[in-house]
Amino acid sequence: MPIATSVLDLIGNTPIVKAQHLDTGVCELYFKLESQNPGGSIKDRIGLQMIAAAEARGDIQPGDTLVEGTAGNTGLGLALVAQQKGYKLILVVPDKMSREKIFNLKAMGAQVVLTRSDVAKGHPDYYQDLAERLARETPGAYFINQFGNPDNPAAHEHGTGPEILAQMAEVGGLDAIVFGCGSSGTMTGLSRCFARLSPHTELVLADPVGSILTEYINEGTLSDKSASWMVEGIGEDFLPPISDFSRVTKAYAISDKESFLTARMLLEKEGILGGSSTGTQLAAALKYCREQTTPKRVLVLVCDTGNKYLSKMYNDYWMLDNGFLEREQHGDLRDLILRPFSQRDTVVVGPDDLLVTAYQRMKLYDVSQLPVMADDQLVGILDESDALLHVYGDEARFRDPVSTAMVSKLDKVDVRAPIEALLPVFDRGHVAIIADGDHFLGLITRIDLLNHLRRRVE
Ligand SMILES: Cc1ncc(COP(=O)(O)O)c(C=O)c1O
Repeated sequence: MPIATSVLDLIGNTPIVKAQHLDTGVCELYFKLESQNPGGSIKDRIGLQMIAAAEARGDIQPGDTLVEGTAGNTGLGLALVAQQKGYKLILVVPDKMSREKIFNLKAMGAQVVLTRSDVAKGHPDYYQDLAERLARETPGAYFINQFGNPDNPAAHEHGTGPEILAQMAEVGGLDAIVFGCGSSGTMTGLSRCFARLSPHTELVLADPVGSILTEYINEGTLSDKSASWMVEGIGEDFLPPISDFSRVTKAYAISDKESFLTARMLLEKEGILGGSSTGTQLAAALKYCREQTTPKRVLVLVCDTGNKYLSKMYNDYWMLDNGFLEREQHGDLRDLILRPFSQRDTVVVGPDDLLVTAYQRMKLYDVSQLPVMADDQLVGILDESDALLHVYGDEARFRDPVSTAMVSKLDKVDVRAPIEALLPVFDRGHVAIIADGDHFLGLITRIDLLNHLRRRVE
């Protein structure tokens, strides 16, 4: 491989790999690893194109400020290019986005403005509307506007599309492509490219449940009602100005749960660490493949890397918490314990461990209290205030053993007690210690009870 002179030269030319272990019916399924772009997603391509095209038109020059509303990946693509070319960048990001993406954006030098994710287009806090306003109010700023910018689909029409066809020509061509739609740049650009160069290729949309696009494609009706979904980067509550759905023949609506479980299966079976939308697209692709009666070569885009979702869909606790993974139900308080001790999931500390160890463990696992276990017996509990009161005024006491600061008079709740029995415990400001006789089972906190109640509503 030649040595590149800039990281920007590494955008595009992503590899394609064939599925080996998935049940794809009579079809062959291929993955295009857009996750291998230097910013970790397909959006590097449009970051480069939208800035380069604006420069070529004389609309911007290095030193200018660029503004965009983005769910994250476009921001990363833009941040990469802006940083390399010397632009300032302000990004408006909805607050449902994963923390990893936001940290990543800030680390690349972008200024991040968080906004609400529970409002729709037309609301002043909607991320695209807010970005547009910020661009207007910032002197000399250029609004990137991926949803209305023709340079976005152009990146795919002239870049991604021909690249895919050249690669797939090696295995005899491409019969269908499955993609998700956010700004719709990918879909519109690929559609235009394939219309010219591979008109038989079928365009299949993978859409989150709650988005309006599936109904629009399959039934031709445009709803003004959308619901929320957790998959990031795809799904719409309006038709983006640059969108052209005319050649999309079929759409599948995929639930968050199916998307996340399918992404996890992809990692397990094929070793591909994709983002949440990869799960949506693969789930749709598998449905499509299994419905076919004649063999087809089908391509799925792995639009971004799963590295950005390690604390979400690749985290079992997060999945359990949100009801996407299920545990055996017992019909008692065990069902509310997120980290059961019997499965070695509870984060604990020993009575002889130092307080500094307990403090570090609380920080690492983001918990406010630790059960103190001597062998398998619960001998105390240590929370943040116990530790604080112990060390305050004499920080050397961080080196005292946990046993000197813990509370050993324990307020246990029997596992068979009704849920109401938790309320007075929380009222006293404690966590509930759940026990079955002498056996410690785990802790229940206020947020665990809230999660349980919310799951019951769902
Ligand atoms: C993570 C992610 N972001 C964005 C998109 C959507 O791309 P576009 O904005 O081009 O429609 C996709 C497409 O599947 C995606 O998976």
